[in-house]
Amino acid sequence: MDGEDQDLLKPLLRRGARRALRDEGDGVLSVLPEEGAASAGRFEGLYGPLYDRVIQSDRLRRLAPLAYGPAGPLPDLDGFARQVAEATESGVGDAPPILLDVPCGGGTLLPRLRAEGYAGVVVESDLGVAMLRRAARVRDELADGATVLLRADAQDLPLADFTVDAAVSLNGLHCMPDPRAFVESLARVVRPGGRLFLITLVSGGTRRADLSILGGRVTGIIPTAPPDRPTLVRWLRDAGWQDIEPLGGEGLVGYAAARGA
Ligand SMILES: C[S@@+](CC[C@H](N)C(=O)[O-])C[C@H]1O[C@@H](n2cnc3c(N)ncnc32)[C@H](O)[C@@H]1O
Repeated sequence: MDGEDQDLLKPLLRRGARRALRDEGDGVLSVLPEEGAASAGRFEGLYGPLYDRVIQSDRLRRLAPLAYGPAGPLPDLDGFARQVAEATESGVGDAPPILLDVPCGGGTLLPRLRAEGYAGVVVESDLGVAMLRRAARVRDELADGATVLLRADAQDLPLADFTVDAAVSLNGLHCMPDPRAFVESLARVVRPGGRLFLITLVSGGTRRADLSILGGRVTGIIPTAPPDRPTLVRWLRDAGWQDIEPLGGEGLVGYAAARGA
């Protein structure tokens, strides 16, 4: 299985990264110098499992509007996964499509994508070792041979240019120290015509969301203030994303977009 994972991932990597690919245990692959060299911050401690518990519970997640105000696609994550599953198509004939889920955390989206009929390859990527180990358990429970786990910094992905057919990011952008670099990194690896689906907190959306952001900043969960909606849309456009479509929400928002040529 581990060898098969490497065979699946290697062709997607930048040339220099292929040689560095190794298994860090539990099927988590990495090209980073050594475990712990780069850190995903608070998610490696107690907050990670707590976050997973809340986000993966349909009952708790439906309370998101209490914390953020209108929360876009978040309360109906199955509907969001359906949208991603239906829109992710291969750019190469009969080859299976490739979807990047980043940061994947503890694998929240994976079972939903499979339940909604997505049968292609999934690259589950995150910087957090503990988060990825939980995503590995989710994958193993699904006996999912078409999913690989990649530990990487999402702001500087080791994937080659234009290698994936779509990227999905749930609550990731606002956890990045450099959210603009994250948007650019996604635009580099998604092929022209490929898709992006994004859910993130934004600044200046609602008072409640701004308070949540402040709480996240104080506790170190949110490393820098996320952009407001116009700034995020401008970053997306500047990075090469087109047909930018809001998916609802005010403080916690969703966007879909297509990669320009
Ligand atoms: C709020 S969680 C979202 C995870 C997942 N999408 C979900 O909703 O279950 C944010 C994730 O970002 C990861 N993360 C933080 N900084 C990162 C970076 N520079 N590169 C990749 N992942 C990072 C954390 O490890 C954490 O799993």
